[in-house]
Amino acid sequence: MGVVVAFGEEEADANRAFLALRELVAGEMAQTDEFILSRMQSQVNMIPELAGHLIRSGGKRLRPMLTLAAMKMCGYEGEHQVRLASSVEFLHTATLLHDDVVDESSLRRGIATANELWGNSASVLVGDFLLSRAFQLMVEIGCLRILEILSQAAGVIVEGEVLQLERSGDIATTEDTYLRIITAKTATLFAAACQAAAVIAGRPKAEEEALESYGKNLGIAFQLVDDALDYSAAQASFGKTIGDDFREGKITLPVVLSYRRGSDHDRAFWRRVMQPGMQNADDLARAAQLMTQHKALSGTIERARHYGAMAQDALAIFPDGQEKAVLSGIVDFCISRAH
Ligand code: IPE
Ligand code: IPE
Ligand code: MG
Ligand code: MG
Repeated sequence: MGVVVAFGEEEADANRAFLALRELVAGEMAQTDEFILSRMQSQVNMIPELAGHLIRSGGKRLRPMLTLAAMKMCGYEGEHQVRLASSVEFLHTATLLHDDVVDESSLRRGIATANELWGNSASVLVGDFLLSRAFQLMVEIGCLRILEILSQAAGVIVEGEVLQLERSGDIATTEDTYLRIITAKTATLFAAACQAAAVIAGRPKAEEEALESYGKNLGIAFQLVDDALDYSAAQASFGKTIGDDFREGKITLPVVLSYRRGSDHDRAFWRRVMQPGMQNADDLARAAQLMTQHKALSGTIERARHYGAMAQDALAIFPDGQEKAVLSGIVDFCISRAH
């Protein structure tokens, strides 16, 4: 165990890379946070209460910070920076509210989830409200291509979630299908968040595609690491319950690799525990032990490095400078992060 937390030095570098991004966009991000809080308001009290619970609980704000940094790199000087970044974070927040209902999760960002406190119905409905806020902001920006990119992303995220649901408990899931799922449910929003920056700045198609590719590959790496962390993180820094994926029967890459690399006996174990209601108290520990034995967690991180490298290379066409360096550094953060 502890493949991810064992990085030590790399984790310190990762945190520095994250701080560099935060510093680069600190002013705009502070405005974005303020704007988000003002736009989540409603006269129906439960909406700002529930949304505020999640929004004020922190979160890395990674996606809007990527949008802001990419807009800087693209030299965007217009008035819609904060709106675009807020729209991206509203989309993300809406998916989290829905995701925690679907996954029956009780902990996020180190505190009780909204579904745990207000119930599933309220969480789904407030998620819908935030989704509508995201679209209102896109309309205010007044750029049809931005609306196209982000609305398309919103649909693809749901497709990823439904495909994942369809494959839940199916131990025969291939790595390709897993990649399809995480590309849709996670990488699509990273890609859209970055591509939209080039679009709003009116940059040429090649730069738009480069940022889309950067975001997509970064997002894949991000989710791969997240899926390793679900088995190996320190819960306090991760802020989510360790082993949630296992208890849900979610076939993430650590499971796919352990299953494929294991003996017949190991495979029988995986077939049993991924079925609903078939887990015993000590099965999570056994799963983690098998993952270590078959290098499934380090294998997952290896894959993340590959996609991370693709993300970094996608930035090549942009001139060297602080923004590019920070965006490149974020790849290291996503791979070596503990939260
Ligand atoms: C959580 O994303 C959802 C995943 C794609 C794994 P983040 O880890 O970016 O969530 P917050 O916003 O920082 O809490
Ligand atoms: C995150 O999915 C993707 C979306 C929110 C659409 P997960 O279920 O894997 O993420 P966590 O672990 O709950 O953050
Ligand atoms: Mg979840
Ligand atoms: Mg989920």
